[in-house]
Amino acid sequence: MGAKTERNGRNDLPIADSQMDNIFLRWWGCGAFDARFGDINIAFDPYLFNQNLADAEPIYDYIFISHEHFDHCHPVTLQKLCRGERFKKLFVNLGCMTPALPIAEKYGDAAFERDLPITKHVPADKVQVLYPKHLNESQGTSRAFQGSDTLDLGDIQVETIESGENQTPNLPTNGYLITHIKKNVSILHTGDLHEPYPALINLQGKVDFLIHMKLGLGAGLAPRLIELIELIQPHYVIPTHYRTDRKSDPIPVGHWPPNVTDEMAFIESMRTIIGDRTHLLPFTAGIEYEVEMPEKQVIWKWEWFNTWDVPPWRE
Ligand SMILES: [Fe+2]
Repeated sequence: MGAKTERNGRNDLPIADSQMDNIFLRWWGCGAFDARFGDINIAFDPYLFNQNLADAEPIYDYIFISHEHFDHCHPVTLQKLCRGERFKKLFVNLGCMTPALPIAEKYGDAAFERDLPITKHVPADKVQVLYPKHLNESQGTSRAFQGSDTLDLGDIQVETIESGENQTPNLPTNGYLITHIKKNVSILHTGDLHEPYPALINLQGKVDFLIHMKLGLGAGLAPRLIELIELIQPHYVIPTHYRTDRKSDPIPVGHWPPNVTDEMAFIESMRTIIGDRTHLLPFTAGIEYEVEMPEKQVIWKWEWFNTWDVPPWRE
């Protein structure tokens, strides 16, 4: 890219090229999502299989886990990613360290003794528990957690929200708002959030890309999605946490989450609910998207290559 000549209005310093380089976003299947900002790479709930797992490289500085269920805290994937020179820290909710016991009884098929605490699989000095800063009062009104302040990691800031699927009120699950300060871009991964709650208004206007999981989908639940969007007012909503039968989808048949019968209809049903409150930004699982900065627009191109040797319509 050529040199940028724009100036930062606040202190009139030139904006460095690297600050305005494009970023890359990817839905990795299920609730897994990653972002490459250039100077720093992050992943949420990584969950890989087969060749993707075999090929996985430890390219992330920080990894964020929403909760201790197997499809979000996946030891086999984390063993591949939580190592090497670049990797710094795995941030988890409390349940990844001290799950409800006995695990088999409390979680059924959603979490396993073999996986938890996650320090069985990732060195303890690389794991840090975070607690939600913004709490859902329907989980209890007298809770306050230490270790819930906004975390400053230099290039990025981490602000936590309470997610859903809490095993108990004292085992809160996490959503993470990650803001890359210099690039002025932010991603909110909600975890398996089921319902909106008033404290989410604290995120209003702070979210560029909201990674959506399951909230407000299903008969009679649309008002929840509308409320979430009106509270947070994200620029974009990226639907995830469903599985397709597309070749690029990293989650093999027979694994969580379930397919939708018709992906386009699914997306359009969300668009109908959301209306003009925000922009729905459907991603194809397993595909990395380049996002043009500072406009924050996904780049797409024609693929000008032939899938034939002789045009089949010639004859
Ligand atoms: Fe999930």
